Amino acid sequence: MYTEKVIEHFRNPHNMGQLEDYSAIGKVGNIVCGDVMWLYIKVDPDGDGRDVITDISWETFGCTAAIATSSMVSDLAKGKTIEEAIRLTNQDVAKELGGLPPIKMHCSALAADALNEAIYTYLSQEEKEIPDALRKRHERIAKEVAELEKRYASFVDKEKRSEAPCS
Ligand code: FES
Repeated sequence: MYTEKVIEHFRNPHNMGQLEDYSAIGKVGNIVCGDVMWLYIKVDPDGDGRDVITDISWETFGCTAAIATSSMVSDLAKGKTIEEAIRLTNQDVAKELGGLPPIKMHCSALAADALNEAIYTYLSQEEKEIPDALRKRHERIAKEVAELEKRYASFVDKEKRSEAPCS
């Protein structure tokens, strides 16, 4: 069963949609179920020259847990420095929601991975140093996205073949 907080975030998700003026996007797919998510971050320097996530939004095609964790990760990351946001994990997200059913823990990975990817994209674009842990997660996520794109491509191909008129 979902906690009340999960249901609340699912019914009234925070920061949903696409930012007009974003600095970077994180695009991820969940290899377990095939669901996908885009996360947009706007990054600005604070008074001490640190990069801060000043705005954030997301679009998710996924289950109740995926929507709730997308909403929660956006709340948790907003206002954090890039350095702080890198340390957010899917366990942190699930904990803030009062927990998730074990079978739904993989859904929280979608949100944490999307944040990872948005930060990775931002640091790459800005030619800033990328921490090892962030790079390793990026390599794993990129493989999963490529695998999903392959699966979808063969699905679309099959659909097209089945629609082709018989001669
Ligand atoms: Fe796909 Fe939850 S079942 S993200």
